[in-house]
Amino acid sequence: MANTTALLFFSLAAFAACSPSTCTFIPSTNATTTNYPGSSFIKTSAYPYNISVLSEVPIATICTSPTGNRTAELACARIYIDAIDEQLAFLYARRLGYAAVAGASKFATNTSLNDPSRNDVVAAGMAAKVLKYGATEAAGAVMGGEGCMIYAALKYEVETIQEECNNKFTVDVERVCK
Ligand SMILES: *[C@@H]1O[C@H](CO)[C@@H](O)[C@H](O)[C@H]1NC(C)=O
Ligand SMILES: *[C@@H]1O[C@H](CO)[C@@H](O)[C@H](O)[C@H]1NC(C)=O
Ligand SMILES: *[C@@H]1O[C@H](CO)[C@@H](O)[C@H](O)[C@H]1NC(C)=O
Ligand SMILES: *[C@@H]1O[C@H](CO)[C@@H](O)[C@H](O)[C@H]1NC(C)=O
Repeated sequence: MANTTALLFFSLAAFAACSPSTCTFIPSTNATTTNYPGSSFIKTSAYPYNISVLSEVPIATICTSPTGNRTAELACARIYIDAIDEQLAFLYARRLGYAAVAGASKFATNTSLNDPSRNDVVAAGMAAKVLKYGATEAAGAVMGGEGCMIYAALKYEVETIQEECNNKFTVDVERVCK
């Protein structure tokens, strides 16, 4: 009985998947409100600051060795890089979820996934934000731009549409590195 119900459910799901208008992104089971960096609900290695709190991310001078010990500085930098990577990975996965919602929305309305003018706005916005927080516009533009984040998001959008809506759906995503 349970098996029949499951089979019926899957065949209905497969049928529904044929209609773009019903295409909806389903987040990973790992995307939960308790699964975030520093959450007490998950076991993570010890980090040098509270990675749940953005304001606790220290400025890099924390790794300047008073005695000029370069080996110590490198080791210190790696500890903070690992902690920040945990935060970036979380935010990136969250962001990709929203990219997939945008992708499913465009797919459902037969709109092109790739929107070069929007991509430019995102890249310029990231450049300005990275500059504002203390690094360079050029580095921010690469992160936000088609060389990196947008390219990866488009690939992810296509993959999630293939999984949930139409396994034959493809988009030629051209990777542009300026
Ligand atoms: C959830 O995270 C675990 C641990 O990293 C991973 O092994 C697993 O594949 C993830 N599950 C899904 C559905 O992505
Ligand atoms: C980190 O900060 C959050 C938010 O203030 C707090 O709930 C949590 O208990 C803190 N974690 C640790 C390990 O101090
Ligand atoms: C420099 O730092 C490293 C790593 O902390 C340590 O092993 C080494 O002894 C230090 N060197 C000196 C000269 O203090
Ligand atoms: C979707 O858009 C493409 C390209 O604009 C067009 O050729 C196609 O007929 C459209 N399909 C539907 C179902 O509207």
